[in-house]
Amino acid sequence: MVKNLQSTTTLNNGGVKMPWFGLGVFQVEDGEEVYNSVKWALEHGYKSIDTAAIYQNEEGVGKAIKDSIIPREELFITSKLWNADQAYEDAIQAFETSLDKLGLDYLDLYLIHWPVPEQNKYKEAWKAMEKLYKDGKIRAIGVSNFKEHHLEDLMKDAEVIPTVNQVEYHPHLQQIDLHEFCKQHNIQLEAWSPLKQGQVLTDQTLADIAKRHEKSTAR
Ligand SMILES: NC(=O)c1ccc[n+]([C@@H]2O[C@H](COP(=O)([O-])OP(=O)(O)OC[C@H]3O[C@@H](n4cnc5c(N)ncnc54)[C@H](OP(=O)(O)O)[C@@H]3O)[C@@H](O)[C@H]2O)c1
Repeated sequence: MVKNLQSTTTLNNGGVKMPWFGLGVFQVEDGEEVYNSVKWALEHGYKSIDTAAIYQNEEGVGKAIKDSIIPREELFITSKLWNADQAYEDAIQAFETSLDKLGLDYLDLYLIHWPVPEQNKYKEAWKAMEKLYKDGKIRAIGVSNFKEHHLEDLMKDAEVIPTVNQVEYHPHLQQIDLHEFCKQHNIQLEAWSPLKQGQVLTDQTLADIAKRHEKSTAR
């Protein structure tokens, strides 16, 4: 049951709990902007922060985490491997760089950001992720923007089943087949742009439903 910012879902790898809600920092500038955003979020009950190497703001995120009084083990920090780093050694190095910028000893969740099938390297990247996971540097590994056939292909050779698939998901893009596939394989679907970058807030049907339940359209 999703009650508040601390409510969690349990991932498929033996008990890692991921908050249902988190703050994403895509397009938030490194430095003061991202620092203040994350600091405010942590002070107001958020436990989960979602960044990525390509967002170029991991240092600011890390500084806000460091300055927070919340114990590290209560937080859930996600970052993502960028497309250019999917070769095995590059993936290991990219992870270490992200960890270093964040100033952390481990990540809670690390995702392959996009499958980029034309590169044909996401399985190589997955091997690197599995190694980092087995070495205890990441509590859970997953993917992002993977379709059913990418997941099927990945899982054919995988030792570790992805815990999460983070995809665009909101009332105007419900991805029903993909969601069903993820449920069948016990992969947690995680929504990015759950409000379609604010656009669903002007949807009259959603506004009417919200009004009937005495909620805002976002809630
Ligand atoms: N894996 C991927 O490829 C991928 C891709 C895109 C995003 N993501 C992740 O998903 C996160 C969320 O994506 P998103 O930023 O597009 O999410 P979103 O929640 O769909 O959109 C955020 C926008 O909605 C507005 N908004 C939020 N709550 C509102 C409310 N109650 N009333 C009015 N406006 C509201 C915000 O306005 P303000 O700016 O005024 O706050 C902001 O412009 C990203 O930060 C990133 O971490 C991942």
